[in-house]
Amino acid sequence: DDPELLAAFQARIDAGEKIEPKEWMPEAYRKTLIRQIGQHAHSEIVGQLPEGNWITRAPTLERKAILLAKVQDEAGHGLYLYCAAETLGVSRDDLTEQLLNGRMKYSSIFNYPTLTWADIGAVGWLVDGAAIMNQVPLQRTSFGPYSRAMIRICKEESFHQRQGYDLMRAMATGTAEQKAMAQDALNRFWYPALMMFGPSDKESIHSTQSMAWRIKINTNDELRQKFVDQTVPQAQYLGLTIPDENLVWNDEKGGWDFSEPDWSEFYEVLKGNGPCNTDRMEARQKAWRDGEWFREGLMAHARKSAARRVA
Ligand code: ACO
Repeated sequence: DDPELLAAFQARIDAGEKIEPKEWMPEAYRKTLIRQIGQHAHSEIVGQLPEGNWITRAPTLERKAILLAKVQDEAGHGLYLYCAAETLGVSRDDLTEQLLNGRMKYSSIFNYPTLTWADIGAVGWLVDGAAIMNQVPLQRTSFGPYSRAMIRICKEESFHQRQGYDLMRAMATGTAEQKAMAQDALNRFWYPALMMFGPSDKESIHSTQSMAWRIKINTNDELRQKFVDQTVPQAQYLGLTIPDENLVWNDEKGGWDFSEPDWSEFYEVLKGNGPCNTDRMEARQKAWRDGEWFREGLMAHARKSAARRVA
């Protein structure tokens, strides 16, 4: 890329301007955005699976209606994000193909199972809580369509987080058995939730460039720390224990010291060896195959309508 164009582009970013799809951008900026927005979109779509798993087993009509609405919201988030990625010159079919053949990632968290009803609370509280922590700053990201998609998504995501916390509160103040289920869900989801923010800053390959371009606003470790600081008092209010013996308040930094997740587990999950990677990919592949007749029908209808207009 021409150094003058690059400098002018960087100056626009530094001045807080939004970059819009038809404007000039460095190829690497475009590629990084396609990777990040595409991965984010795939996460929303695959993220429907662990919760969809409980829709038929929700304990009350009200909880079922809430869960249905939330899972539908995730589908909508995936669609806004695919649209934002499409403005960068990649098609949704292309992105889907890359998900299905394993060339594109989705968030590690969705490779963990939801074993009990309390897990649905833990997912809303911790997983959506971590997602918002990452997404609120992304409302100010430099690429216009991504930033606008984030504004809508964050509103819905905060409802998701609250319904999860409310479910955890119901479990934690219920019978001893229900409280034990809530604690068990927290035990299993705590470290995978911390992994959602990505590897430590030392290991994060993209952070420096992505932050210079304001594709990312914070480092992975900054957001992880904020998440821990926000979540510890919420756990205390519920009377639940964060599964970390090293958790201690650090007056100097004004935040909690905590144990790092097991990063070897994180990298194994990324390689496809998490507890549910195979199931998740099979479910997406089946959905794609099952939808083939419908996609073909839509295309045939579009061709006929176009031919009729010409005639
Ligand atoms: N799960 C899967 N892959 C991850 C994760 C994770 N939790 N964290 C990092 N990675 C991958 C990165 O994609 C990158 O791999 P790649 O080069 O093959 O793409 C590699 O690990 C190194 O990490 P970083 O250099 O730190 O990557 P990056 O700068 O992209 O930061 C982050 C990762 C924080 C997830 C960033 O991409 C981001 O903010 N994305 C938008 C939010 C998002 O995708 N949320 C999805 C989950 S929330 C939800 O859907 C409800």
